[in-house]
Amino acid sequence: MVSCTALLTVLQLVTSATLVHAQCTPHGALAFRSPVTTASGLATTPIFAGLVTPRGIVFDGAGALLVVERGLGVTAFVEDAPGCDGWLRSVVLQNANLTQGIQVDGARLYVSTSGEVLRFAYDTAARRVTGEPEVIVDGVPPDGELTTRPILLFPSTNATHILVSSAPAANIDPSARNASSGRSQVRRFALPSTRSASPQDFFAGTLLAFGIRNPAGLAFLPPHSSNLWVVENGASIDNTTGLTPTFVNDNPADELEFVDAAAAEPGSVNRFYGFPDCTTLWNPNADPVGDPQFLGFKTGEQFSLELEPQRGDAFCQNPEDNVPPRLSFQAHSVPLDIKFFLPAGTEHDATPALPASWAGDAFVSFHGSFDRTPPTGYGVVRQVVPFSGLQPSAPPSSQTGYTFLAQATNLTSCPGTCIRPVGLAFADDGRLFVSSDSSGELFVISKMT
Ligand SMILES: *[C@@H]1O[C@H](CO)[C@@H](O)[C@H](O)[C@H]1NC(C)=O
Ligand SMILES: *[C@@H]1O[C@H](CO)[C@@H](O)[C@H](O)[C@H]1NC(C)=O
Ligand SMILES: *[C@@H]1O[C@H](CO)[C@@H](O)[C@H](O)[C@H]1NC(C)=O
Ligand SMILES: *[C@@H]1O[C@H](CO)[C@@H](O)[C@H](O)[C@H]1NC(C)=O
Ligand SMILES: *[C@@H]1O[C@H](CO)[C@@H](O)[C@H](O)[C@H]1NC(C)=O
Repeated sequence: MVSCTALLTVLQLVTSATLVHAQCTPHGALAFRSPVTTASGLATTPIFAGLVTPRGIVFDGAGALLVVERGLGVTAFVEDAPGCDGWLRSVVLQNANLTQGIQVDGARLYVSTSGEVLRFAYDTAARRVTGEPEVIVDGVPPDGELTTRPILLFPSTNATHILVSSAPAANIDPSARNASSGRSQVRRFALPSTRSASPQDFFAGTLLAFGIRNPAGLAFLPPHSSNLWVVENGASIDNTTGLTPTFVNDNPADELEFVDAAAAEPGSVNRFYGFPDCTTLWNPNADPVGDPQFLGFKTGEQFSLELEPQRGDAFCQNPEDNVPPRLSFQAHSVPLDIKFFLPAGTEHDATPALPASWAGDAFVSFHGSFDRTPPTGYGVVRQVVPFSGLQPSAPPSSQTGYTFLAQATNLTSCPGTCIRPVGLAFADDGRLFVSSDSSGELFVISKMT
């Protein structure tokens, strides 16, 4: 529940030049704005409300949760800080241009705007940045309806490189089939070890993948490998000729992609993932009368939107031309982040707050549909991935390759005040923290105690 007082405080915070007072939300003080259903054995607990469109989240080296509040900047959340028996929020930096990307490596904080990646000197003890940022990368195509630019450091500590995503100019963007467009791709950049004189141009980065419409979430598994997993939101095909409203209500699938982030040069492997020409079936039987041409296909199979004669179904179904997904998600789920669970014995040292048997599994946020009846998504899911595997346990043809840990209880009422999960971050103790942008909430998923 958001009180009027909380909203007022937020407005003051946005309009004031500097935030003077930190805010405390006591443990147990909040209820979700709309009910959330949680899988058996788990608890889902809101920890803060009234935030300004919280998007990307990450833990710093001292255990503070850093959050991009879009339109405000970066805020820090600390549990049980002196004087706050709950969660204390303070402002790390104010910059209304930040959209989603956030990474931290010791005393360096990386964030993205729609066109740039910035690096700040970060004071972990004070939870503040010091001085002016350096622009690490610029020239990312900044326009289009999707202006978030997810970023990922690697290795995760003492990072030497950063990955940067870009998005399409339009829902279906013909220029994205050309790698030189800079659209809908993931590029890799070496990080300057000292303050750099000039930014690196986005187009000069090593191209790891293109034709991934909106590479919204990026993660490595195993953590220090170059096996990159990317969640993609498929295009809306609502206005594609020949497809009925009943068919597009259940298609195309959203996707989990696998990218080799070490493959040396473009051309050594196929890096084209299909957008805008090829897309993925979720439900081939969605409209047997209106769109019978898909009967006999499987979930996960590729089909052509027939934008170009030479890129028909045969092109789309040839993995040499178009890399297919490793797992399919229900149409309109809108996956926005992916994190792997790495409890004790792998990277984390404390008692895991989620079952240890989930080690290596992938957790994905589903922002939720805006054009499906009834709505879908609005939750957080888990899919089983063998720890060093290159394929989730479920095949791409599966419609049951993942299960919900938490989901809005009454999907019919969404978006409304439903949770709309975006950013995911595991604490060292294995609790999973989640941001929910339009409801302005932060919540945590843990074992039922
Ligand atoms: C945000 O972007 C605008 C337009 O590029 C720029 O003028 C402004 O200085 C930026 N704000 C910050 C805090 O960097
Ligand atoms: C990162 O670098 C610091 C300083 O050089 C070093 O102390 C630390 O052990 C390194 N961490 C890892 C994980 O390599
Ligand atoms: C790809 O894009 C580049 C840069 O915009 C352009 O010069 C080139 O002609 C395009 N290639 C094709 C085949 O469209
Ligand atoms: C489909 O067309 C309608 C009507 O022109 C338009 O309002 C809608 O935005 C279009 N949808 C997409 C996803 O392009
Ligand atoms: C679910 O939400 C819809 C739309 O707001 C509402 O009409 C319905 O009563 C709700 N159902 C329940 C069980 O609360």
